[in-house]
Amino acid sequence: MHIAHTIAELRDHLAAFRRPAFVPTMGNLHDGHLALVKQAKPLGDVTVASIFVNRLQFLPHEDFDTYPRTWESDCEKLRSAGCDVLFAPDEKALYPEPQTCKVHPDPALADILEGHFRPGFFVGVCTVVMKLFQCVQPRVAVFGKKDYQQLMMIRHMVRQFALPIEIVGGETFRAEDGLALSSRNGYLSESERAEAVQLSKALKAMAEAVRSGERDLGAIEARAMQALAQRGWQPDYLVLRRRSDLQAPAAGEPLVALAAARLGSTRLIDNLEIETAAP
Ligand code: PAF
Repeated sequence: MHIAHTIAELRDHLAAFRRPAFVPTMGNLHDGHLALVKQAKPLGDVTVASIFVNRLQFLPHEDFDTYPRTWESDCEKLRSAGCDVLFAPDEKALYPEPQTCKVHPDPALADILEGHFRPGFFVGVCTVVMKLFQCVQPRVAVFGKKDYQQLMMIRHMVRQFALPIEIVGGETFRAEDGLALSSRNGYLSESERAEAVQLSKALKAMAEAVRSGERDLGAIEARAMQALAQRGWQPDYLVLRRRSDLQAPAAGEPLVALAAARLGSTRLIDNLEIETAAP
């Protein structure tokens, strides 16, 4: 695996390839990331991953400073997943001057759900992804469905700017009990880890209620919020939205259930595409 720490080095190395397939990450890699790398591999003539903890997408009180940096094991895992090139710039290499030119995604999508609870988050995400795209110039990029709203946002940005990049969604990778893998699961204590599965169970219960013909989506959402709160969680949202733009669904539209909730000091997110359409 070739490791490039600067944009110039990366471009130099990738000049020989026509169709880079790209997986951007913030490191602290788990099997979910590696599944995305494996999914990317047959889609291009060279597989590129990036590791960059992007300060722009963290709020001042969030965990930028303590976000786990696990360089050696990340490199090992990427090598074993068949990654060809790792782009790992430091802040000076990616943001040599303050990044004052930013991508401001459509507020209709960027200011709801995650964007509502983490203002400016998607400006930071879209800005770094746009910049990483300029560095790698991929023809295809794979993003996990675990960050469903992020995936929608990137798809929208790519479409609006006519970027010649195919965006592919990777299925969420789950532990045996159903907990979606996330770099932040490492923050959970043993007892919190045992409790954490309740988030995916709450999503499954919402899906089951829709499947069984319940028509009042608001009531399903309120019940899910209450059930988690009663177990000691602090839920930000558990909602049923239409998949296309995460707005309130009309009858017959494909649905996704999305959730974010804090367990102790750890904020977890998850989502579930529901096979039954909105009533
Ligand atoms: O999903 C992530 O890990 C990050 O938001 C991303 C896409 C690598 C941008 O920093």
